[in-house]
Amino acid sequence: MTDKKAHLSIDGIDKTIELPIYASTIGPDVIDVTSITKHGFFTFDPGFMSTASCESKITFIDGDEGVLLHRGYPIEQLAVSSDYLETCYLLLNGELPTPAQKEEFTAEVKKHSTVDASVANLVKTFKRESHPMAILCSAVAALAAIYNDEIDITNAESRKITAYRLIGQIPTLSAMVYKHSKGEEFIAPDDNLDYAANFLNMTFGKAGQAPNVSQTIAKAMDRIFILHADHEQNASTSTVRLSGSSGTNPFAAIAAGISTLWGPAHGGANEAVLNMLEEIGSVENIESCVARAKDKTSGFRLMGFGHRVYKNFDPRAKVMKQTCDEVLAELGLENEPLLAIAKRLEQIALEDEYFISKKLYPNVDFYSGIIMKAVGIPTEMFTVIFALGRTVGWYSHWNEMVSGPYKIGRPRQQYTGSPKRDYPTK
Ligand code: SDX
Repeated sequence: MTDKKAHLSIDGIDKTIELPIYASTIGPDVIDVTSITKHGFFTFDPGFMSTASCESKITFIDGDEGVLLHRGYPIEQLAVSSDYLETCYLLLNGELPTPAQKEEFTAEVKKHSTVDASVANLVKTFKRESHPMAILCSAVAALAAIYNDEIDITNAESRKITAYRLIGQIPTLSAMVYKHSKGEEFIAPDDNLDYAANFLNMTFGKAGQAPNVSQTIAKAMDRIFILHADHEQNASTSTVRLSGSSGTNPFAAIAAGISTLWGPAHGGANEAVLNMLEEIGSVENIESCVARAKDKTSGFRLMGFGHRVYKNFDPRAKVMKQTCDEVLAELGLENEPLLAIAKRLEQIALEDEYFISKKLYPNVDFYSGIIMKAVGIPTEMFTVIFALGRTVGWYSHWNEMVSGPYKIGRPRQQYTGSPKRDYPTK
């Protein structure tokens, strides 16, 4: 709380409404508008363009400066110096782990990485050509059937085990979804492999064969997971918070987040970027693509560009672009045509008045797909990888909410429908 107040004067009301202002550590302070309902008004903010839905200590974004901090640490530093499980621990607990804490956390995640046979069988019931996000969403919701009776969301220990199960099983489920689409046998988690290498082995390994995972690709995968780990109150995280605010099973709340992430305006954009780059096909076609993106009547947007919060470079896109160069060079793919198209498209867009005036920059999804394609991930699996990395962020926000006092989320509306009228008498 600060001593500062906002003063709202409303035509027809002679009294000025005083609204308390709460201070933030960094970034905008917030105006508490809860009392205006007493004066017969709701705030109106479709799309929550200027609404703080909650107080949080997990992630901070400065969209104008292109800053992203996880528990105060810049994403650029975590992406280069940390690893995904250390970042998971940081997001969940607020501090970097000691070596002993990291060792215990890693062991617990590994201990809880096996998926119940009933859920593995559920994955197998889907048509092979089903979209992987539809299967993943269903499979995570099915975990709510496995882990319902024993979960006590008011108990910190119970919530900790749920974190291990989600972080441990989301790569196993993601790999199963891929294996099912290929008609291949599932591969069990291998405790001798680190998190990203284990995921890659479960995805691309062959049953009965020793793991053979490239360290270059495993490191790139781990960095992709870090870059997707959390992003404040984005649509899918807000979904998880709103769903969780009813006290529902946390696995069911995470499944709701997966369904929200799937959309092309959100996490589904990485798949749409690759499809767009492949549709462009050559550098010569970029100009016409950019022209379409600027033409409101086309209904086409430059996928991987623009962001609700970033009006500057998405810091994750910068790290992703650098990683893209490193991985393609290491794999001898630096002449990958899609990379050339992406780089030229970025250059043209960033010099174009339309994109400059609307502050549209590449976001996290613009380069991620090129790396994932280079390491062999099929396009339709890109958003599954995003969901895999983001699971810890969703859970960290759910855990932050249920660890303290919270109310069920219940927005109001501006009603513009019919006034009260009587049912016609026969
Ligand atoms: C993610 O919230 C998060 O943090 C999300 C995320 C996370 O980590 O969780 O960062 C991950 O979802 C990244 C965004 C991925 N989506 C895309 O790349 C899809 C393409 N981008 C957009 O559709 C759009 O930019 C959004 C959805 C990302 C943001 O949309 P907003 O904030 O609602 O802005 P808007 O649609 O009102 O656009 C503002 C203007 C409009 O023009 P005007 O009506 O003002 O004339 O910019 C234009 C838009 O037409 N515009 C674009 C554009 N994005 C916005 N024009 C062409 N191409 C684009 N990509």
